[in-house]
Amino acid sequence: MRRKFVAGNWKMNTLAGSATALAKGLAEGVLTTESVDVAVFPPLPYLAAVSATVAGSGVRVGAQNVYHEKPGAFTGEVSVEMLLDVGCQWVLVGHSERRHLVGECNSLVNRKLIQACERGLSVILCVGETLLERQSHQTEMVLNSQMAGSLLGVDAALMPKIVIAYEPVWAIGTGVNATPDQAESAHHHLRTWLAGRYNRMVSESTRILYGGSVKANNAKELLSLSNVDGVLVGGASLEVEGFSKIIQAARDVSR
Ligand code: PGA
Repeated sequence: MRRKFVAGNWKMNTLAGSATALAKGLAEGVLTTESVDVAVFPPLPYLAAVSATVAGSGVRVGAQNVYHEKPGAFTGEVSVEMLLDVGCQWVLVGHSERRHLVGECNSLVNRKLIQACERGLSVILCVGETLLERQSHQTEMVLNSQMAGSLLGVDAALMPKIVIAYEPVWAIGTGVNATPDQAESAHHHLRTWLAGRYNRMVSESTRILYGGSVKANNAKELLSLSNVDGVLVGGASLEVEGFSKIIQAARDVSR
């Protein structure tokens, strides 16, 4: 049975005070004995403070980005070692905002993913099609190519450190979430892809999260789908009450 995972991507939001207040509010409601995994992804400058704030609770911490080289002369970049040092267990790679706004390609995503997993972080690998790609019936082709490119050279032994997030670009930050049918069909496709590329065990044990306009009022329906193992939440993760309701929805469907 795949354990549900609720992840909150804070993106480029919060300041020191609001980041620790949000972390404190969540930590109070999420115990170490949880039936679901919970992680937050604050901006880099607040990772250490958020890690300290959630210590001893069931909330884990991840970064929104990492550099793919060992520490050295890479001005402005942040290494895996630094993220581990400030208490991160997770990192996001391949988020559509980095693919589309910063221009990260599959091969860069692949290098980041391998370096992160091999050096001690777990990874949420994001994939997803644009509206134009969906309208021109290219969704599965795009997912195949993002999965193949991002997981190039990654063998089955590394897969326990990797979670996939299906995030249709047209659903991110728009208020228009994928319908249950659209989400289930994409997740089923990704699971079948994993079976073909790896094996049945990897396909059945890898968690696939849905992301894109997840809110307290649609989380339960999405989390109930048989191939949806959790949610990656942007906007609705910035507020304790709303995010706590999404965590509660994951607990409810895990019973
Ligand atoms: P959203 O963002 O929940 O605000 O749509 C999701 C994401 O980008 O991970």
